[in-house]
Amino acid sequence: MKQMDTEKLLMIPGPTVVPTRVLNVMALPIIGHRTKDFGELTEDTVDKMKQVFQTKNESYIVTGSGTAVMDMAIANTVDKGDKVLNIVNGAFGDRFYKISSVYKADAIKLENEWGDLADPNAVKEILDENEDIKAVTIVHNETSSGAKNPIEEIGNVVKDYNALYIVDTISSLGGDYVHVDKFNIDICVTGSQKCIAAPPGLSAISVSEKAFEVVNKTETKSFYLDLKAYKKSWDKNKETPYTPSVSLTYGLNEALEMVLEEGLEKRFERHEKLAKATRAGLEAMGMELFAKEKARSVTVTSAKYPEGVDDKKFRGLLAEKYNIRVAGGQADLTGKIFRVGHMGSAKEYHVLGTLAAIELAFEELGINADGGVSAAKEMLLK
Ligand SMILES: Cc1ncc(COP(=O)(O)O)c(C=O)c1O
Repeated sequence: MKQMDTEKLLMIPGPTVVPTRVLNVMALPIIGHRTKDFGELTEDTVDKMKQVFQTKNESYIVTGSGTAVMDMAIANTVDKGDKVLNIVNGAFGDRFYKISSVYKADAIKLENEWGDLADPNAVKEILDENEDIKAVTIVHNETSSGAKNPIEEIGNVVKDYNALYIVDTISSLGGDYVHVDKFNIDICVTGSQKCIAAPPGLSAISVSEKAFEVVNKTETKSFYLDLKAYKKSWDKNKETPYTPSVSLTYGLNEALEMVLEEGLEKRFERHEKLAKATRAGLEAMGMELFAKEKARSVTVTSAKYPEGVDDKKFRGLLAEKYNIRVAGGQADLTGKIFRVGHMGSAKEYHVLGTLAAIELAFEELGINADGGVSAAKEMLLK
């Protein structure tokens, strides 16, 4: 294999640093995926995933990235011409709209400014005017902008209508408070590589009884992502219909074990603390945060570049000189913002080191960015 620099600290909003414990179990030999041992491992992994989802709903692990389960959610519930409400305030909300369009849904886009949050009253108004809406999609944590949506409040609205509530928690589950059952989420999707801190390649989906009723009446439009096939294999043998990634399942199981060992509450508190420290640090350096104050994510922080800073130069310096990777902006925000991920297994020293490197990189680019680390330290000591 080509030698690569695998030592860089990943402070991007996924994939994230994978703990050694998780990496180690993935070196175990491959076992047959239709064996008793693997069946028990899968059952245990699903059980842990349900604890993290905080749901009693059936849940499945899918070999495929987060987009696979976003696709699965729509393919199995929406037929051609069905009305879908896609709440969009970033690139991933828009992805649900694009997927809905692929399946030829009659998709209504409820757009909000990137960096702001969706308004539950606006959702209610649209549902009142369109009683035939079959599904409402939303992204909890908009990784593209660093803003998070009020999914509990919107769930409280959607529950009074026939529509299914489909929520992407790909960059929040295991880092920010999500309670699938309390939030009335019918289909919740997530990925392995963000707050859960496993490698990329697996995803998970929880499906309520109400959603299954719709799935059973929906035309099968995807072979690999057919939920009916997943349910059948699970109900019969606690298996997946097709060959799962055995090594990644080892890793996901161990990563979920670590999430539960830390405890969900403590994990949410850690993410919130790191987010506060990152925000305080960047603001003390003179940066303007991109997401509106009321909408700020606890897993990724976005900041506007000061005038004249070149995104490629800045992030290049961070990566090549200081060995830290942060992300740039997406779509219209390319070159305008950068994003720091502080999710998964991130700790104080990752955030402090990143802020110190950001200070140094900005100074090298002629911008006085003193004081970021001190402000973050103060916040961490609170
Ligand atoms: C909120 C959100 N949704 C969906 C995705 C897509 O997931 P994947 O790249 O694993 O397919 C991402 C990835 O960054 C994300 O952050």
